[in-house]
Amino acid sequence: MTRPERVLVTGGSGVLGRDLVRRLQDRAEVRVLSRRPPQGPGFVQGDLETGEGLAAAVDGVDVIAHCASAADYRRPQRDVTQTRQLLAAVRGARPHLVYVSIVGVDQIPFGFFQAKLDSERLVEESGLPWTILRATEFHDLMLMFLMRLCMGPVAVVPRNALFQPVAPGDVAERMAELVTGPAAGRVPELGGPKVESMADLMRSYLDTVQRRRSIIEVPLWGRLGTWFGVGGQLITDGDRGTVPFADYLHARITSDGVLRHPYR
Ligand SMILES: NC(=O)c1ccc[n+]([C@@H]2O[C@H](COP(=O)([O-])OP(=O)(O)OC[C@H]3O[C@@H](n4cnc5c(N)ncnc54)[C@H](OP(=O)(O)O)[C@@H]3O)[C@@H](O)[C@H]2O)c1
Repeated sequence: MTRPERVLVTGGSGVLGRDLVRRLQDRAEVRVLSRRPPQGPGFVQGDLETGEGLAAAVDGVDVIAHCASAADYRRPQRDVTQTRQLLAAVRGARPHLVYVSIVGVDQIPFGFFQAKLDSERLVEESGLPWTILRATEFHDLMLMFLMRLCMGPVAVVPRNALFQPVAPGDVAERMAELVTGPAAGRVPELGGPKVESMADLMRSYLDTVQRRRSIIEVPLWGRLGTWFGVGGQLITDGDRGTVPFADYLHARITSDGVLRHPYR
């Protein structure tokens, strides 16, 4: 396949999408879909849930990198609606659709993961050329969880919970390769370079921000306990990113002077 001329990035204003857009800009004409008024050249206003603005957003693109997500854990089906609306907008055209999903969506009995799996199926059955990359949790998302878990006088983390967080830049780099390459179906999963317990991740966070907190590990029962225990959110034989969590936090605080997570 020749290099794409025009690429639409849904979620191009989000954590992954912003980085992906930066990496694609000198390789193709990049369009960014956002619900907000245009924030720069290439921005197209539209809403994946209502369908508003989507026809113009997809018009004439060779590749769609679908990175948007409502990230609504209470109403996970919103992500399925978004994917469905995107596919409906494409109509008779045949852009290559590159979708980013999450490691473990087929193993973990959690509504949001089920919705991502349903979205994967819509992509596979769309009749379009497609590529799906599953990635583990981004460092920024783990940072958000950790900041919330240590708001009190002690830091409370789940016991036996293992994660393999990955730098969004590593995921963006892989996505950029996939967007500029031919449709590849399912590609190897991408995880971070290290598997770490939530307590280890909390220690890295507290060290970085130079805060002292006792860390209490509490057992998780029920479906969540099973989920963490099985390790379904870790990659088995996929690819590994390059930046460990602690190094990522250190680099961020060094450059920004403060550590904030970008999620609402
Ligand atoms: N975060 C993780 O740890 C992780 C791990 C693995 C895979 N993923 C997947 O990677 C993708 C990107 O995640 P992220 O953390 O970078 O997301 P994010 O920062 O939360 O960004 C979400 C993006 O979705 C867009 N969006 C949401 N609702 C929309 C709507 N109705 N219409 C149009 N755009 C809409 C937002 O754009 P506006 O607000 O500008 O409209 C925003 O750019 C998601 O599919 C996610 O499931 C994430």
